[in-house]
Amino acid sequence: MNAKADAGLPVIDVEEFRKVVRSRRSVRRFTEEPVPDSVLDDCLELATLAPNSSNLQPWEFFVVKTPALRAKLAEACLGQNAAKTAPVLIAIVARTDTWREHARLAVEEWPEEKLPSIVEKYYRKITPIHYNQGPLGLLGVAKKAAGLVVGLSRPVPRGPYSANEMKVWATKSTALAAENLMLALRAHGYDSCPMEGFDECRVKKLLKIPRKGLVTMVLAAGRRAENGVYNRQYRFDRDNLIHYM
Ligand SMILES: Cc1cc2nc3c(=O)[nH]c(=O)nc-3n(C[C@H](O)[C@H](O)[C@H](O)COP(=O)(O)O)c2cc1C
Repeated sequence: MNAKADAGLPVIDVEEFRKVVRSRRSVRRFTEEPVPDSVLDDCLELATLAPNSSNLQPWEFFVVKTPALRAKLAEACLGQNAAKTAPVLIAIVARTDTWREHARLAVEEWPEEKLPSIVEKYYRKITPIHYNQGPLGLLGVAKKAAGLVVGLSRPVPRGPYSANEMKVWATKSTALAAENLMLALRAHGYDSCPMEGFDECRVKKLLKIPRKGLVTMVLAAGRRAENGVYNRQYRFDRDNLIHYM
């Protein structure tokens, strides 16, 4: 059934969306057919349209197509079939250290004529405190303590207050971009397999990923081979997982 057209919004056929979501599978074997650059570019563009915390876009994508580097990366992905057969591998990296520069860009590249003062205040005054954990994480500790006290009487943000919480912070948004990327590939008729089975030290060294980058997933992408899906898709009982309150 088609959704009703709202002013200015495209009419979307939910069945087409359902087809994309339902036919996405983790594919473990790909054909040798390359993914055209135009498709890859479009999918990466759609990936970056994912919602993300404070629009600080804490992600980076390292796209590997050259056979020699791909073979090395596949080895670092523990020799998994998906990695060995995919014509393209994409390391999807979360960055905990780009927020300061990105806060500057958020102001500089504000898309409207006038930058609202509340936006300017957010990126210039609040962001530098909220995401900064200070030397040895001490500012984070102080913010957490202040939050515990003030939080007794009113709602307060409960983080990120440490280097580890910054990793969770960056990973949340990056995982959403990864899902956009997988769905975009499917919509173009291609497939993918997200992998966390890899040696992160080796992947980072191989792709020269900055020290503070977290390899959230390595995504294998390509055209699904006939034997690419190993089993039927299944999910647990919704009643245990979805809670209407
Ligand atoms: C974060 C993450 C890590 C994953 N790591 C691997 C992996 O290393 N190797 C693999 O074959 N599949 C991996 N998968 C795919 C899952 O096994 C798969 O999504 C799950 O079994 C459900 O199957 P479906 O994606 O076909 O619905 C990963 C998926 C996610 C989201």
